[in-house]
Amino acid sequence: MLYTLITGASKGIGKAFALECAQRGMNLILVARSGHLLEELSTELSAKFQVNVRTHTADLLDHAVQRKIFAWINENGFEVNMLINNAGMGYYGKFEQQPLEKHLEVLHLNVDAQIRMAHEFLNASNPNQKRYLLNTVSTGAFQPVPYMAVYCATKAFMLSFSRALRFELRKQSVNVTALCPGGTETDFFTPAQMDGVAEKNALFMMKADKVAKAGLDGLLSNKAVVIPGWYNQIGAFAARHAPQGIVVSQASSFFKPD
Ligand SMILES: NC(=O)c1ccc[n+]([C@@H]2O[C@H](COP(=O)([O-])OP(=O)(O)OC[C@H]3O[C@@H](n4cnc5c(N)ncnc54)[C@H](OP(=O)(O)O)[C@@H]3O)[C@@H](O)[C@H]2O)c1
Repeated sequence: MLYTLITGASKGIGKAFALECAQRGMNLILVARSGHLLEELSTELSAKFQVNVRTHTADLLDHAVQRKIFAWINENGFEVNMLINNAGMGYYGKFEQQPLEKHLEVLHLNVDAQIRMAHEFLNASNPNQKRYLLNTVSTGAFQPVPYMAVYCATKAFMLSFSRALRFELRKQSVNVTALCPGGTETDFFTPAQMDGVAEKNALFMMKADKVAKAGLDGLLSNKAVVIPGWYNQIGAFAARHAPQGIVVSQASSFFKPD
């Protein structure tokens, strides 16, 4: 039986992915730290959509955990052919005024943990099976953003990584997609200390279910990069083509602390 593994499935975009996948009849392995939220979601999805849903409570900042997750998958005989590599976090503010530990958590969760998950997945999954890997990146990947310098640098890294990996795997029947959402209504902003920024940009926030649907459609149809929402597409185009000095200063005006 084939499974889709979703990290960060307890809330936000990851939870929306779980719902979208279950609606399409896909069996799921849900990973996050909040075991009770995963259990609630598992009960709901398996009852509503008659799919198999397994949960695995894990802190992806623990460097050994990705290996443990795939060892558990192997012991239980689950076959994972799709990885939604989604768990991530941000931290907002002037770089030197924020705790170094927070910057490093962002770096480790958004980069290390995703790289480790992708590596375990590609080695553990069946190469004779069609496989799918989606990395949740961000429109923050398209330009440096003052006051979110580390977060956007991690997302630029993951965009570059996704595109390179996609090319490496092009003859191995693996679809690789970078999902680049703009602002999305989730719990992301509170732990990131960004409630004020979210309020200022409320008009441009997308719903998580729309983002997840666009991501899954793009992954299944083998798109390299998916940017949900026309205004995010325009923003990403401008960020890639306008002079970088102007782009950074423009980004700063959106994110400048009051
Ligand atoms: N919301 C936006 O505006 C936006 C825009 C662009 C990109 N993104 C990206 O979208 C992805 C999902 O974010 P979201 O907006 O859905 O945020 P969210 O609502 O805060 O969800 C984050 C998910 O990641 C999990 N998570 C966080 N730290 C973890 C850890 N150490 N170990 C395991 N799981 C962990 C959380 O679950 P637990 O707390 O239960 O562990 C939760 O399920 C992230 O990669 C984010 O960078 C978000």
